[in-house]
Amino acid sequence: MNDLKEFLTFDDVVIVPGASPVEPGEVNISSNITPSISLSIPVISSPMDTVTEHRMAILLARAGALGVIHRNMPREEQARQVSLVKKASPSIWSEVPRIPADVEVAAAFIFMDETGAGAAVILGPNGFEGVILRPGVDAGYWYGKAEALRLLYSTVKPLPTIDSDGLLRVGAAISPFDVERARMLDRAGADVLVVDVAHLHNANAISALARLSKEVSAEIVAGNLGTKEGVLDVLSRVENVAGLRVGISSGSICSTGEVAGAAVPTLTAVMNAREALEELGLHGKIPIIADGGVRNPGDAAKAIIAGASVVMGGRIFAGTEESPAPKIRVGGKVYKPYRGMASRGAMERRFAADRYSKPSKAIEEGVEGLVPYRGSALEVLAEFASGLQAALGYAGAPSIRDAWTKGRLARVSAVGIREVRPHDIMT
Ligand code: XMP
Repeated sequence: MNDLKEFLTFDDVVIVPGASPVEPGEVNISSNITPSISLSIPVISSPMDTVTEHRMAILLARAGALGVIHRNMPREEQARQVSLVKKASPSIWSEVPRIPADVEVAAAFIFMDETGAGAAVILGPNGFEGVILRPGVDAGYWYGKAEALRLLYSTVKPLPTIDSDGLLRVGAAISPFDVERARMLDRAGADVLVVDVAHLHNANAISALARLSKEVSAEIVAGNLGTKEGVLDVLSRVENVAGLRVGISSGSICSTGEVAGAAVPTLTAVMNAREALEELGLHGKIPIIADGGVRNPGDAAKAIIAGASVVMGGRIFAGTEESPAPKIRVGGKVYKPYRGMASRGAMERRFAADRYSKPSKAIEEGVEGLVPYRGSALEVLAEFASGLQAALGYAGAPSIRDAWTKGRLARVSAVGIREVRPHDIMT
């Protein structure tokens, strides 16, 4: 017990500024979630029933990211959700109404209210001028944020995430024990099957995944894992692992660390997975997906510098227009519900909806709450795209691969973290 390990979290470290050969706007943030699936924006949405169904997945893939459809529904319904994404048009603008640039903002909002559109493209004499979003009931006018979207489309130029037939790509969550679900999702066209268990480093779960992986053609992301040994064991026993989903109990709605006392914070889990992959000569060949606790582009950049290719987020997308949760008004403000998949509410839905799933544990390991409503998920992507470019610019890394080798993290003291955030003013 004398050599207790120290597990670092996002707040324990900062990015060390390095000599940058490029301007932030020139940083290339494209990355891979599996060897064959690349993303213009390295952010994917969590398979959670208050985060990702087809609407979120369609929007994210159109904008160059990816959604992973949750599995808290019967397998037939999950397969239908996958096929809805595959059938959707890949163009982000195809279903968005167009408004001439000389229309008054108020008139544009009335038009959007009447048509139910959440966003409209503004067309000027020279074509695309920007995007206007319908104001949130409490949020005032948002047209200023069109600037952020314009930035997204002018500097990052994200390509939609599409397959070789030009169809949108989509991920779907699976249990290692439900081969039938995996087969059905595979047939429906899921591009990547993302294993969705809290602790994959378990003999039964690994054997089940080893069998399942031989039954499907879609690529498989294995997780969640937190330790080097966990990664080595999974890779030695399961063929065709195309990605690793890592992080245990860092999620904003996770209570595993509290209830069960077990955790590997996402930053540490990424470092552990990288160590395992480097030992096997596979770092950069099998992407690491940092999952849980990512609050902003700075956290995402820290995960990437530690060795991740992509980050997965639940809370960052839960409050958006495209999440499946309803809007709720509390005291004049608008919120959306967000809950852990091992929370009481989510578990009750699972056992009611799917007679094949059985509770493996009796305790709840997630909480239920509300997050502020924040408009379209496109804004989240815009924030992450430009924020990641800025962060990697500071790190002196013109690309994600460069971030792995050139990027450096340094520890700050628990007291010092206050100083590197806004402090000592009233906001
Ligand atoms: P964020 O911080 O993005 O985290 O909201 C989302 C991730 O949290 C995980 N997750 C859970 N972990 N109990 C847990 O311990 C839960 O009920 C739960 N539900 C989701 C999951 O990895 C997700 O991507």
